[in-house]
Amino acid sequence: MDVLILSTSPRKSFSTSLYFSKILKLFLAGHNVEIILLRSAFDYNRAIRQLDKIDVLVFATPVYVDSVPSTTLEYLEKMEQYITAKKYKFSVYTIANCGFYEGNQCRLALKTYELWCERADVKFLGGVGIGSGVMLGFVRILPLIGLAITAIQLMIQAVVLCFENTFSFPLLFAGFFPANFVIQTALWILFTLGAFVHIFNLRTSIIKKRNHVCQYTTAWFCPRCLFVCMASLYWFFRALFIHGVMPWTLFRKDKEYVDSLCK
Ligand SMILES: Cc1cc2nc3c(=O)[nH]c(=O)nc-3n(C[C@H](O)[C@H](O)[C@H](O)COP(=O)(O)O)c2cc1C
Repeated sequence: MDVLILSTSPRKSFSTSLYFSKILKLFLAGHNVEIILLRSAFDYNRAIRQLDKIDVLVFATPVYVDSVPSTTLEYLEKMEQYITAKKYKFSVYTIANCGFYEGNQCRLALKTYELWCERADVKFLGGVGIGSGVMLGFVRILPLIGLAITAIQLMIQAVVLCFENTFSFPLLFAGFFPANFVIQTALWILFTLGAFVHIFNLRTSIIKKRNHVCQYTTAWFCPRCLFVCMASLYWFFRALFIHGVMPWTLFRKDKEYVDSLCK
């Protein structure tokens, strides 16, 4: 089966849509799957060239203001006309992810693709809406963080042994257990399990070319209160280190300040 996955996130790095596209590609191992990032006219032309040989088109999209990113609209409009003119008959599925906790915040984005399929006269066979998209995109680096901490622990232990003049590899690893790596990897898998399961179910529907009633999920094993704490910390550090915004300014609500930001 030939599958084309169009990842429509404008983000150049760390895109959750691309991450989920790669997971779907992994689950579809054995099939001919290509991922194209739909961000420029060049990407669009590449995608268009694939359309005549595919059985299934999958959109992996972020939710922007309850809908699809505006950067995608131009290409969707052109593609709709192209598909109608060529009378292609492939099936379309969608994986949408949003920043809010609830997966059903993706409902309108999925509906947008359903309506697009109606206009393009191709079959929309459903999709998946995944909440906590930013968080799930971020937690994929937890195993790497665990690995880095474990390596640092080992290095400190090695330095201590060198100072004591007792360094040997058996001694370095004696009683050593990479607890940090194991815990961080377990957290990554637990939080992302819902997305994995739903993308796997979607993969089964794709292979059987059957209707996949839109399903919604979010970070598993992560109650909303934990999500809110982690999201607040994430935005706090992101504002500080990436955008240089001081923590106290985040609490300012005065109109003048908001107006000055908008200028
Ligand atoms: C301009 C903009 C608008 C957004 N609007 C929403 C929204 O309406 N609802 C929501 O849940 N998340 C919203 N988000 C969050 C994104 O859906 C979230 O960051 C998603 O994981 C991005 O996926 P990506 O990494 O594939 O681009 C918005 C993000 C941006 C940048």
